[in-house]
Amino acid sequence: MNKQEMTLNNQVQRAVEDFVQRFCADNRELATNRIIEKADESQISKLKKIEIPAKGCPIDTVVTEMMEEVYKYRALSNHPRFFGFVPGPASMLSWLGDIMTAAYNIHAATWSTSSAASCIEQNLIHWLCTKAGYTKKSGGLFVSGGSMANMTALTAARDKILKEEKQHLGVAYVSEQTHSSVAKGLRIIGIPNTRIRKIPTDPWFRMDINQLKAAIEADIADGLIPFVVVASAGTTNTGSIDPLQEIASICHSYDIWMHVDGAYGASVLLTKKYKHLLKGIEAADSISWDAHKWLFQTYSCGMVLVKDRSNLFNSFNAHPEYLKDLEAKEGQVNYGDMGMELTRPARGLKLWFTLQVMGSDAIGYAIEHGFQLAEWAEDELKKKKDWEILSHAQLAIVNFRFAPSDLTEKQIDELNQNISKAIIDDGYAGVFTTELNGKKVLRICALNPDATESDMRNTVNLLNEYAKELYQSMTAMKISS
Ligand SMILES: Cc1ncc(COP(=O)(O)O)c(C=O)c1O
Repeated sequence: MNKQEMTLNNQVQRAVEDFVQRFCADNRELATNRIIEKADESQISKLKKIEIPAKGCPIDTVVTEMMEEVYKYRALSNHPRFFGFVPGPASMLSWLGDIMTAAYNIHAATWSTSSAASCIEQNLIHWLCTKAGYTKKSGGLFVSGGSMANMTALTAARDKILKEEKQHLGVAYVSEQTHSSVAKGLRIIGIPNTRIRKIPTDPWFRMDINQLKAAIEADIADGLIPFVVVASAGTTNTGSIDPLQEIASICHSYDIWMHVDGAYGASVLLTKKYKHLLKGIEAADSISWDAHKWLFQTYSCGMVLVKDRSNLFNSFNAHPEYLKDLEAKEGQVNYGDMGMELTRPARGLKLWFTLQVMGSDAIGYAIEHGFQLAEWAEDELKKKKDWEILSHAQLAIVNFRFAPSDLTEKQIDELNQNISKAIIDDGYAGVFTTELNGKKVLRICALNPDATESDMRNTVNLLNEYAKELYQSMTAMKISS
């Protein structure tokens, strides 16, 4: 190593030490910060003016610039009161696992380049498969997230069930509540919208089994080939779980691949109290499961599990001449042959690290805590006038709206949109909207193990204050006009 490289090494070491101190201090303050810090126009124009210099700047200067001008402006999805979308309450342990893995920059496509890391990923995938009730033939891999997991599984389904010359006849079944990444993935693998059936849901937002059966029969009668049913274990809107056992039995009778999108809810398998809710998942041919959602991992960390790992290998293996030196031997796995990515980081290591330090019981309790958080929110809402629950607390999600009886549906939609905006602008909590049965609703998705009963009750109280205030100004405007 020459003198200049030594210097760079030392400079980086100092910068890392400095960064870690500043990051940890920021993190200690997290709960007192605003939920979203958005770069305003002047900040954006300032950033646009930063040019790529022909001659570099000192590391410390650039670290400070990034801390103050870039990282600061973000949605704090780690904040205990960030309840939007699916929050990403990443554990500091995952963060450490992530930096350690990135530091060594392991090429985890082949066993030869990452033997120990691949072995750990293989063990962890096996452990997760066991939790899902899969047997020894199962397998899977770590991918960037739920969207990629869905597309990977759908590709395996297509290749297993449809002969190449029949692919133009393949039909996929999802529900009205299935995550949009599924249709996206289907289109990418050659299944257009005209061959994606959106099955209606029951009043609890679960796929209606009778309608699923009727749709399958109708397609068979038309000469089409049903090849995959996508069931959700934890829908994004409400946390509902499709009737997995019934869907499994339909798939079995018609020889259809069953995929479970558990990107959100599969983590419930690690709880003692609620894992029974996912009964039937063991019958699925494939499962998506996101660790960067409810397993407290940094982005990006998702898993796709398959009942029979040869199905992933059949769809994705490739053996070009320049990789012949790296072929896997008996008992080894080349993850580049199990999914779309060749060069890939060993994403599983940070989850393994987190599990080693915390233990799986603690992770299970942290997941159970989410159920309780949504129940506290619902309990507080029930005490208040004019609040309506549209989907009861389940899997840490509750949907509700403020609906005074003298307002029209259109006014109620507008009012709830404004309540969400008010609490986000206030900075106290991130409560966003979604739509259920054509109605604009407020949605709380509460996963953060650091969130408390007071966080939930205070959030509802603040929502109620904004609701009353906005309603009053709405009715005052009505009177004056
Ligand atoms: C049920 C479900 N499936 C898939 C996805 C997509 O996952 P990702 O954002 O990790 O690609 C999400 C994301 O929220 C989800 O909730």
